[in-house]
Amino acid sequence: MKKISVLFVCLGNICRSPAAEAIFISLLEKKGLKNAFIVDSAGTGSWHIGKKADSRMRIAAKRRDINILSRARQINIKDFEKYNYILAMDDSNFRDIQDLKNRTPSTKLASIKKIQDFRSVFNEHEVPDPYFGGDDGFDYVLDILEDSVSGFLESIS
Ligand code: 4NP
Repeated sequence: MKKISVLFVCLGNICRSPAAEAIFISLLEKKGLKNAFIVDSAGTGSWHIGKKADSRMRIAAKRRDINILSRARQINIKDFEKYNYILAMDDSNFRDIQDLKNRTPSTKLASIKKIQDFRSVFNEHEVPDPYFGGDDGFDYVLDILEDSVSGFLESIS
């Protein structure tokens, strides 16, 4: 069976999208679905390429038994062919991804959505960027993402 591929995207790929990726993988593992999916994350920006996720996010996730293992990379035009779903963390990411897709001469398979379109508990239309804030912001991002990432999985299963 063909795998379903999902790419989570934020600005730096060191806080929100690596957290979304790890939460999604953890959920898939719990449901015995991991082998049915290809999951990754990327940033629209290039500043942090090759870096581990922000230690504040890794520590906050670890407290929930979620391991963030990814290294930052930048989204590129091949991703539109490789992934079924590209999920943006906020409106600015969404616009940047659309702009890149519009400049891509490929068959453009990916469906681009905002992860918060799948929220049910938290009424946030965007995942707030925790990078310049305090430690609470990282836990709040994880709370929001646990809700919307599971909503996304329900929407496609
Ligand atoms: P992210 O957070 O987009 O959730 O990874 C950020 C990380 C770094 C920067 C901005 C946002 N930065 O400006 O370096």
